[in-house]
Amino acid sequence: MRHLIDTTDLSLAEIDDMISLANDIIENGEKYAESCKRKKLATLFFEPSTRTRLSFEAAMLELGGSVLGFSEANTSSATKGETVSDTVRIVSNYADIIAMRHPLEGAAKVASGKTLVPIINAGDGGHAHPTQTLTDLLTVYREKGRFNDLTIGLCGDLKFGRTVHSLIKAMSRYENVKFVLISPRELCVPEYIITDVLEPSGCEYKEVTSMEEVMPELDILYMTRIQRERFYSQEEYLRHKDAFILDPEKLINAKADLTIMHPLPRVNEIAVSVDSDSRAKYFEQALNGKYIRMALILKLLEWADEKSGHSGVEPTVNGLKCNNPHCISNHEDLMHISKRTDKNTFRCIYCETRTK
Ligand code: CP
Repeated sequence: MRHLIDTTDLSLAEIDDMISLANDIIENGEKYAESCKRKKLATLFFEPSTRTRLSFEAAMLELGGSVLGFSEANTSSATKGETVSDTVRIVSNYADIIAMRHPLEGAAKVASGKTLVPIINAGDGGHAHPTQTLTDLLTVYREKGRFNDLTIGLCGDLKFGRTVHSLIKAMSRYENVKFVLISPRELCVPEYIITDVLEPSGCEYKEVTSMEEVMPELDILYMTRIQRERFYSQEEYLRHKDAFILDPEKLINAKADLTIMHPLPRVNEIAVSVDSDSRAKYFEQALNGKYIRMALILKLLEWADEKSGHSGVEPTVNGLKCNNPHCISNHEDLMHISKRTDKNTFRCIYCETRTK
């Protein structure tokens, strides 16, 4: 059974196919109006969402299917202590496909081991958000016409910003992509993104603390909000909350064909006065999310009918405890499992934190 837990669950050819399908849906939506007749999507959202949940639901409805689910943990039996494992095992009897968001890192990975139907990771804590990445890729393709030969600035909370982690994993698979990582030092990308993603990819990257100095280099500026809900203390959040605010003045030296993106929601990191700049594409990006999720639902259901298996078995080691307090393996009765990386280190299979 195929799932989408991480961006790398899809080959580059499969991503290309999905982008083409989404573009065809944009052009010829009526062709797909009954493609999911009698199919049901369950949206299990243990964490708040506007875009992801509603675009998934709109996507399934536009494909002629139906939706069921919950939008907050406290309307589910999670409040009674039910685990993710049991919840998913049950709901996979009621739906043909499940999109799930959860505050614990690795929750969707656990779900994929318990389900009878495809699981889509709609965000797991500060770890990953692969359907946002598909949304971002569709936007990059529609704006730039390519994935190669681009300089991408990622700005804001790169530590807890799960959309950034997934986007770097995806874009680092293309040729001649350069990354400019713009964040306060305390909010830089997690160590595994540097050692296991950027360095092996051979992509050029640099880490800087100011947006202005790099603005002229960028083809894409991907802004993110400071993720208040992931900080350990309010003081720490307050220290960083206004770290970067994009306004028209900061764009004076930017390229004329810069593409400004943001997964949204925005707090204050993009001034409203930027919205009327023709380079601002974040609202189009949110709309693209519905079309790419339509394509994803179609593909995963098609693969489920074909009964395609997992693409490979990772070499794993059991028993190494994960040190990440936000990892699901420290909250549910699960076996601690690590995978050996190319550099002979071990990483938790759920959240990718180093275990040894
Ligand atoms: N981009 C995104 O994930 O938005 P929501 O949290 O509103 O789903």
